[in-house]
Amino acid sequence: MNQKMKIAVFASGSGSNFAAIEEACRTGELNAEIVLMVTNKPDAFVVERAEKGSIPVATFRPKDFETKDAYEESILHALQEAGAEWLVLAGYMRLVGPVLLTAYPSRIVNIHPSLLPSFPGKDAIGKAVAHGVKVTGVTVHLVDEGMDTGQILAQHAVRVVDGNPDKTAEAIHAVEHDLYKETLNELFSR
Ligand code: GRF
Repeated sequence: MNQKMKIAVFASGSGSNFAAIEEACRTGELNAEIVLMVTNKPDAFVVERAEKGSIPVATFRPKDFETKDAYEESILHALQEAGAEWLVLAGYMRLVGPVLLTAYPSRIVNIHPSLLPSFPGKDAIGKAVAHGVKVTGVTVHLVDEGMDTGQILAQHAVRVVDGNPDKTAEAIHAVEHDLYKETLNELFSR
C-alpha cells in the first residue's frame, strides 16, 4: 500500500467534515494522516474535535497580522514544519491567497455546499432555497484565487427538502462526508 498522504485540514466552524475525514484516516478508509488542523477561529467547535482526536491544532488570527501575506507566511511555516503535502479545506471561511496557492499548486482542495458554478460564496444552501431551486448539491473542487471557482473534481446532487434550509443542510452534510472521502482517496492514489 502507498504511503499515507500527509494532509492539513483547514476549518473555521463545527467541523463535521473534519470529523468525517479524521475518522476515515483513523480507520484506514482514507489513506492519509492529518498532520495539522489549521483554524482562524480559536473558539470553533472543530478545535474541540481535533483535540479529542489528538490532532495538533494551529490557530492563526488574521487580525494579528499586518497583511494577508504575513498571515499566510505564518501558516505556511507551520505547514512545512508539519510536513503537510495537501491542504484540505473543510468550512474554512476565508479566501486562500497567493502565498499558499504558490506553495501548494493544485494541491488545495475545497468542499462547497452547492452545484458550482451556482451559488458560490457564503450561505450557499440559504441562497439555493431562497432562489426556489428544487435540486442543489455538493461540489469538491481544486482551489484557485477565485471564490469557489477552481477545477471541479466531483459533484453530487441533493434535493431541496420541503423548501427548508435546515433540513436541506442536513441532507447536504450527509452527502458531503462521503463525497469528500471518496474524492480525496481518488486524488491521493493518482
Ligand atoms: C460545509 O457545508 C462545507 O461544504 C462548507 O462549509 C461547511 C462546513 O461544515 N465549505 P462543517 O464545519 O464541516 O460541519
